[in-house]
This record gives sequence, structure tokens and C-alpha cells, in this order.
Amino acid sequence: MTDIALAVIGGTGLYKLADLQDVETHQPVTHYGALSGPVRVGTLGGHRVAFLARHGEGHSLPPHKINYRANLAALQALGATRVLALNTVGGITERFGPRVLACPDQLIDYTWGRVSTICEEPGTEVLHVDFGEPYTRSLRQAVIDAAASAGVALVADGCYGATQGPRLETRAEIVRMRRDGCDLVGMTGMPEAGLAREMGLDYACLAIVANWAAGAGPDPDEVITLQDVLDNVAAASSGLPRLLSALLGARATR
Ligand code: HPA
Repeated sequence: MTDIALAVIGGTGLYKLADLQDVETHQPVTHYGALSGPVRVGTLGGHRVAFLARHGEGHSLPPHKINYRANLAALQALGATRVLALNTVGGITERFGPRVLACPDQLIDYTWGRVSTICEEPGTEVLHVDFGEPYTRSLRQAVIDAAASAGVALVADGCYGATQGPRLETRAEIVRMRRDGCDLVGMTGMPEAGLAREMGLDYACLAIVANWAAGAGPDPDEVITLQDVLDNVAAASSGLPRLLSALLGARATR
């Protein structure tokens, strides 16, 4: 099989890659069970790209029910070594208002009760992987460079706080997260990033800010609606095809 240049995992509001050509569908059965849905493998600018909708193509899986291990294992089995995670998030601090794209460099995990390691089975060697820098530096840099060369505005840092969901947060929870140092809040950043590290995959997050987190925006009483989230994701994603083309183009010349 030809190498997959990039695997993309889509979050809420991002269920396909519009420009993917000659698409084949794979639904591998993995050692970890069923994945969120089919993996669509096709070509984008002459490169093989795999796409998987994290919540399923009909958005039917809540964050805590996603089989993160199966998703990553399937992408790896198809030949992917680099994973770009698209995560829809709320913005907590000033630089991360609705429709901003960001490539966070840190995260804090507030999730609980999720299978968060591949080292569970009897006889498996327990890995204590280094996670001081949770996203792969070279892939983050490639994303940041690609955005710059494609003229797509991107905030090149930030701390992602992963919450349990599926409900949104209380205002007090967001105040605490801001105090902790979080800039962004989402529900699917973990355990995905940690598992990718255990599996030896290069992994970076491209966060798409869909709303101000609870109480964080100019109107502290604002009610967050799914429609606002989807509208903002659609608007913020308009530069995504250019960014991905630049990212893939950069790989060709490496
Ligand atoms: N909180 C958590 N996850 C999210 C949010 C939010 O405000 N917006 C989009 N995903």
C-alpha cells in the first residue's frame, strides 16, 4: 500500500474532507474493537490522505464513548504515521474567540473513566511515555508553517483543557480552567493525544474555536447553541483546504 502522508481526524461539524479525490472506504477491525466509522482514504494534491470522523459520520458517539484506541490503531494499520486532530473547542482566554484556529502546545486532562492507555492487557509492558510536550513538535511546526504559507490566520500556541462532556461546562468550571492555565476547552483531546504518543504516532491538534466557553465572552449570560457551534466551525474551516494543501506540499519537499 502507498504510504499515507497524513491522517486527519475530524471533530464536531467536520465529518468529511470535501476535496478528497478517488476515495476508498476502509473499515478495519482492530485489536481494540470497532472504530467510530469508516476511514475514507483518498488523494489530496497528489498525496494519500486518510480521514476519520471521530464522532461517527452522523455524530452519534459522545466523547466518552469514542473508541480512541481503535481509531488510532486503524489509522496506523492503514499506514499513517502522522495524525492531525481537528478539535472543535470553546475559547477561554482573549486570543481564542469564536472562529479562531489554533495549534495548542499544551494540554490538561480533566476527563475520567476513559480507557487511556494501550498498556492494560496482562503481559503487556507498561509504558511511561514522556508527555511533557504532548503534541509532536515537528508536526506542530509544519502546521504553523503551512498556515503561514497559505495565508491562514492561526494562533500558534495555547493550552487545551479536555473535559468529560457531553454537557458543556459551568461558568465556575471555566473560571477554574482559566486559573489552571487553559486557553481552550474541548471534550476529545484526551485520551487521544496520550494514546498517539504511546503508539508512536506523530500527533498535533488543530483546534477550531466554535464559541466562547461558558461565561468567557463579552456577554457572560450567553447561551451556547449547537447551531452557533456548527456555523462558526463552518466559517472557521474555510481556510482548512488551503492549510492542508500547504501541509502536504511541505511534506513532498522534505
Ligand atoms: N466546551 C467543551 N467543548 C466544546 C465547547 C465548549 O464550550 N465548544 C465546542 N466544544
